[in-house]
Amino acid sequence: MKQLVIQAFGDADQLKLTEAERPALAPGQVRIRMHYAGVNPIDAKTRAGLGWGAQAIKDKLPWSPGFEVMGSVLELGVEVNCYQVGDRLFGLVAGGGYGEELVVEAEELLLVPEGVSDEMAAGLSLAGATAWQGLTDHGALQAGERVLISAAAGGVGHLAVQLAKGLGATVVALASPGNHDFLRGLGADEVIDYRDPAALDALAPVDLFFDLVGGTSGETLLSHLKPGGRVVTVPTITAPQVIAAAEARGLKATGMLRRIDNEHLDILAGMIADGRLKVEVSHVFPLAEGPAAHRQIESGHTRGKVLLRG
Ligand SMILES: NC(=O)c1ccc[n+]([C@@H]2O[C@H](COP(=O)([O-])OP(=O)(O)OC[C@H]3O[C@@H](n4cnc5c(N)ncnc54)[C@H](OP(=O)(O)O)[C@@H]3O)[C@@H](O)[C@H]2O)c1
Repeated sequence: MKQLVIQAFGDADQLKLTEAERPALAPGQVRIRMHYAGVNPIDAKTRAGLGWGAQAIKDKLPWSPGFEVMGSVLELGVEVNCYQVGDRLFGLVAGGGYGEELVVEAEELLLVPEGVSDEMAAGLSLAGATAWQGLTDHGALQAGERVLISAAAGGVGHLAVQLAKGLGATVVALASPGNHDFLRGLGADEVIDYRDPAALDALAPVDLFFDLVGGTSGETLLSHLKPGGRVVTVPTITAPQVIAAAEARGLKATGMLRRIDNEHLDILAGMIADGRLKVEVSHVFPLAEGPAAHRQIESGHTRGKVLLRG
């Protein structure tokens, strides 16, 4: 079976399509035919040798990226009674999603509910878990509060806008003008061009800042919080910098690392099924075009999600 791997850290062209072994199934495992894999900034940062992801795999190359997958069951290991061949599954895996097939523990994945497309299920798990955990577990967002979301049109941000609105918050979304109508359509109450200083100056203070850009952008936007306001800064590489700047202003700030929580993912997939949540998929690349998919995510200006098709 074909798999995209890197042999060494480097640019997008390090991703090469290779022929990989089909491992035997251990008890409790399932073999999945990958239909779509989500492409996330962490995949590209790790491929480039940056951050915690690269630290974790630097002695284990070659490595195949891909944490966010959707596919159908090809084969069941012994002791797997919860699924049947052909079932559509999705979820967060520990890597290796960029292949025609993958072998996972059966309990790692969940059934895709009726009414949820393969593409939406594929783009949900990493971005949706980050948005949900960031706003609720870390941000403690309450109905009636004002939340500022940067990179609001991106993979995590466009889900965070919808979830924050559903929680009863007033949502202020930052994006370039070409994404403003898109964000209003997702429920954003106020939409601001992050490159427009006058529009930013006029912004009324917020209770929570969900920072999806980090670095200097994260630091600069801290001036828009109410006294005692809260900050969740999501990009891990710059989190210490943004947290230090926030604390110097007397704000409560935290970084985060999304975790696997299939109960949450089940709820989010149910929200898609009943029309309360939408995953926007703007680009789909065939597996063989992995480098182009990485260049797209590295542009920093993707609307919604990028997927690879298996
Ligand atoms: N800690 C964790 O567990 C975790 C989990 C997931 C993601 N992350 C990190 O969170 C960040 C966001 O992830 P993502 O998947 O949402 O990224 P993404 O999809 O690549 O984000 C793209 C969006 O960023 C916007 N953008 C770019 N520069 C901006 C700026 N200066 N101000 C406001 N918006 C800007 C773009 O909007 P325009 O095109 O309108 O400019 C675009 O829509 C990444 O750094 C990622 O690594 C961390």
